[in-house]
Amino acid sequence: MTANTIAINRRRNPFAGHAEVWLFGYGSLIYKADFPWVERRPARIRGWERRFWQGSHDHRGTPRAPGRVATLVPAQSAVCVGMAYRITPDVFDHLDYREKNGYLRFSTDMHLDNDAHAQGLVYIATEDNAAFLGPASDRDIAAQIARSAGPSGPNSEYLLRLAAALRELDAHDSHVFALEQELLRLQRQQG
Ligand code: SIN
Repeated sequence: MTANTIAINRRRNPFAGHAEVWLFGYGSLIYKADFPWVERRPARIRGWERRFWQGSHDHRGTPRAPGRVATLVPAQSAVCVGMAYRITPDVFDHLDYREKNGYLRFSTDMHLDNDAHAQGLVYIATEDNAAFLGPASDRDIAAQIARSAGPSGPNSEYLLRLAAALRELDAHDSHVFALEQELLRLQRQQG
């Protein structure tokens, strides 16, 4: 699959005709809401877990030296905590551009913090996209994050802000927190 998913996402539009759509964010969309929203609520989805397995050519790295950012991988009994936004459909033009490096819109059920359920969309970079990097040891992932930077800033900022945002949500994510510890250790070593 091509790395630029804008055209594919325009065709993946199960909420066409809806005045508002819920979007679930689990990575930078938790802490960087650079788009208008009507309502925002902590939320969780079932059956997916966060992994730093997606390459970033356009935000936290470059095509020659990609960074690593979060995607979701299927995991039967897992629960992923994030932030849900109720948005108007015109906002997807901006979001499709922002998430164009391999992320596709998927439909999901989300459980909101007021105990309501909502159907909505989530951007996931699946393993068949050209920028997918896949698993590596915590040490290797953290080292790649430590040395990468792109137009949106240092890759380390992405990881540290995500870890801080998850703590604020009272969400424990052992993958993210282990990478954060490795990154901080490397940064201390490098002085
Ligand atoms: C998300 O945050 O939901 C998608 C991945 C990202 O933009 O970091």
